[in-house]
Amino acid sequence: MTQNAAGTANTQRMTVVVTGASGRTGSRVAEAARGAGLAVRAASRARGFDWEDPTTWAQTLRDADAAYLMYPSDVGSPAAAEGVGALAREAVGLGVRRLVLLSARGEDQALPTEEALTSSGADWTIVRASWFSQNFSEGPLVEGMVHGELVFPAGEVREPFVDVRDIADVVTAVLTSGDRYVGRTLELTGPRLLSWREAVAEISGATGGTITYTPVPTRSYGEALAGFGVPPEEVELLTEVFDTLMDGRNAHVTDDVREVVGRAPRDFADFAREAAAAGAWKA
Ligand SMILES: NC(=O)c1ccc[n+]([C@@H]2O[C@H](COP(=O)([O-])OP(=O)(O)OC[C@H]3O[C@@H](n4cnc5c(N)ncnc54)[C@H](OP(=O)(O)O)[C@@H]3O)[C@@H](O)[C@H]2O)c1
Repeated sequence: MTQNAAGTANTQRMTVVVTGASGRTGSRVAEAARGAGLAVRAASRARGFDWEDPTTWAQTLRDADAAYLMYPSDVGSPAAAEGVGALAREAVGLGVRRLVLLSARGEDQALPTEEALTSSGADWTIVRASWFSQNFSEGPLVEGMVHGELVFPAGEVREPFVDVRDIADVVTAVLTSGDRYVGRTLELTGPRLLSWREAVAEISGATGGTITYTPVPTRSYGEALAGFGVPPEEVELLTEVFDTLMDGRNAHVTDDVREVVGRAPRDFADFAREAAAAGAWKA
């Protein structure tokens, strides 16, 4: 990225590598970045970029100005700390210094990954997101909801669900704001707290059907995941992360979306209405 005479960021020619570009956040980051006039280099395995194969990284990063880094499955895995650290060092070596990492709010297990980024020499920004609203409409939770029940180990804890489109808008604003957010850790939340039961009730109302929420102990949920063939080490990490995140530590909202994009974050009710209209929970 270059700066013009007035010292503001010149984003005309800025190229950003977007990892996970076929996923929930990456697809929206790519769309928002294109909308802001950035050149997007979409990165995923189909496009020859593999987090598990470092020999694919340089061709993806070379001559870019910035990168959005999301590590598949979970940012709190030991593989994420290793991969993000190694990729960040390689990016810096190639002159791609501006790196934005998607992390998870309140997830102690993600701290080594964040540290791997911040010690890499990059001009970093960390975006710690709350639980995505789109977890309910895209991914493994959808199937149960389509059949009328969400079984999940979240008890009655409350969470400020964040719309992934707000994550994308924040990442894009961060990338197009020069050095303003370099060295900052942002915590993104939606505008209000909802329990899983309340969230499912809002979705149920939006669909005009009946979807119920059944809380279960984390251990039984882990056993169910194992029964679906999720590898033991992933089950162990996910259940540990769920126990960490569901203890009430995240039951408050922040103002960071508004600070960065200058408007309130999207409300869960709007997400539920739009996703229902798009048929997210239709059989
Ligand atoms: N869900 C939440 O509420 C939440 C909250 C905060 C933070 N997070 C963090 O968000 C991240 C997940 O982000 P997301 O939900 O946007 O992802 P996602 O929808 O699960 O998509 C995963 C993306 O990663 C790509 N991918 C998978 N394996 C890959 C590999 N070996 N090499 C390169 N690309 C690979 C996939 O593309 P291909 O399959 O085409 O390669 C896909 O684009 C995790 O780190 C998680 O900890 C999640």
